[in-house]
Amino acid sequence: MPTLENYLESNATRFEDELCDFVRIASVSADPNRKGEMVRAAQWVAGQLRSLNFTVEIIPTSGNPLVFAQSPHVPDAPTVLVYGHYDVQPAEPLEKWTTPPFEPAKRDGKLFARGATDDKGQVLSHIKSAEAVIKTQGKLPLNMKFLVEGEEEVGSVGLGEFLKSNAEKLGSDCIVISDGSQFAPGIPAINYGLRGIAYYEIHLQGPNRDLHSGSFGGSITNPANALAKILAGLIDEKGRVTIPGFYDDVVPLTDRERRQFAELPFVEQEYFRNVGVEGAVGEEGYTALERRWARPTFDICGLWSGYQGEGAKTVLPATAGAKISFRLVPNQTPEKIAAGLKRKLAELTPPGIQLEFIAHHGGPGVLVSLESPYIEAAARAIEFAFSRRPVFTREGGSIPIVAKFAEHLKVDILLLGWGQEDDNAHSPNEKFSLDDFHKAIKASAKLWEELAKISGEWRVESGE
Ligand code: BES
Ligand code: ZN
Repeated sequence: MPTLENYLESNATRFEDELCDFVRIASVSADPNRKGEMVRAAQWVAGQLRSLNFTVEIIPTSGNPLVFAQSPHVPDAPTVLVYGHYDVQPAEPLEKWTTPPFEPAKRDGKLFARGATDDKGQVLSHIKSAEAVIKTQGKLPLNMKFLVEGEEEVGSVGLGEFLKSNAEKLGSDCIVISDGSQFAPGIPAINYGLRGIAYYEIHLQGPNRDLHSGSFGGSITNPANALAKILAGLIDEKGRVTIPGFYDDVVPLTDRERRQFAELPFVEQEYFRNVGVEGAVGEEGYTALERRWARPTFDICGLWSGYQGEGAKTVLPATAGAKISFRLVPNQTPEKIAAGLKRKLAELTPPGIQLEFIAHHGGPGVLVSLESPYIEAAARAIEFAFSRRPVFTREGGSIPIVAKFAEHLKVDILLLGWGQEDDNAHSPNEKFSLDDFHKAIKASAKLWEELAKISGEWRVESGE
């Protein structure tokens, strides 16, 4: 049998070709016209796992199907559950892509396509690592389960329902999730925190039709003016959210964490330069890293009203609206935020405006323990592939199902992001470094071995 290194090297091109096949499927979960592609992507993942001799099920949900797979049983060995998602974000605006989003293109050692990093490349790294271990060692050193869903980008509703009554099926010693980022190129990371999210939409109705802004302006409340004022009223001059009780449950940063964040090689000016700004405002008293990873925030994700066409039109619009999101940190909950937000909006809404409130998806943030033996196993596996020990980071993004895993499955969680912060996830020209892809496969192959070893000792110690 070939060595792991030889196998990875001689199959590297095929692995890349398979990733290209995966990202060619336009599995955009937000788009109701893409149901066929969602099923095709689920079948593609299922086919990959079936070829490894896993028992595979495609499980229908109220939304998109789940792919659940189990390796042949390895007696007296622990079980790892790998979670990821085959759905992707919409690719718009299409004209901003250098090459079309669902026609993968390689440039400068990177694969450009929607889903390359979020999350198809990262999911595939774990499938290919299982393949490499089987082909070089004859079998896996532990029991593996895969759970790959198709609704992560739209709130994981189907999986949330499934989880409630299938905790046993999903039972494992440890859950591995790769759906995030390293700290920087050449600096791999183990993530120990994710922010939560609470997403809402508001619609403002003013007069019963658009009006002449000269005849009526100043005497009728303008919904666009009202919207601007309401949204501005949600943040104070210190960058803090004004919703009553918003900070009550926030787990504060510890001094140790603040020191650790400050020791990371992060240069604020470079960070700003990368996204084309010269500076930024945010919550007073916190650094940029602290604001991103460990403080709750408010962002307007979309807003509309009035005339958007060429030239000037003097109009007092009848309606206005916005999509808004709060990133949460432990122990804030979307339910409590919604209640406080409704009260605050009522207070901020002026006479002459009717406000409609719609709640979209949400989920709390998570912090995982760094004390488990799995963390050290992951650190060794990462060092083996990336030739450098990982740093410990938190993430600003959200994977809402993770809090539910922690609640329902009560097992250790390993967040091993293989992407880079500048991979353009959710943006035009999404990409995944092929070097990171191959290193991720190698790290992941080593991880299965390390987890099998550590958990064995762990079970002996605990007298089983
Ligand atoms: N891969 C991301 C989560 C992520 C983002 C991790 C940034 C690390 C850094 C995931 O696919 C995602 O985008 N999640 C959504 C969840 C939402 C739609 C409920 C998010 O964070 O916006
Ligand atoms: Zn995403």
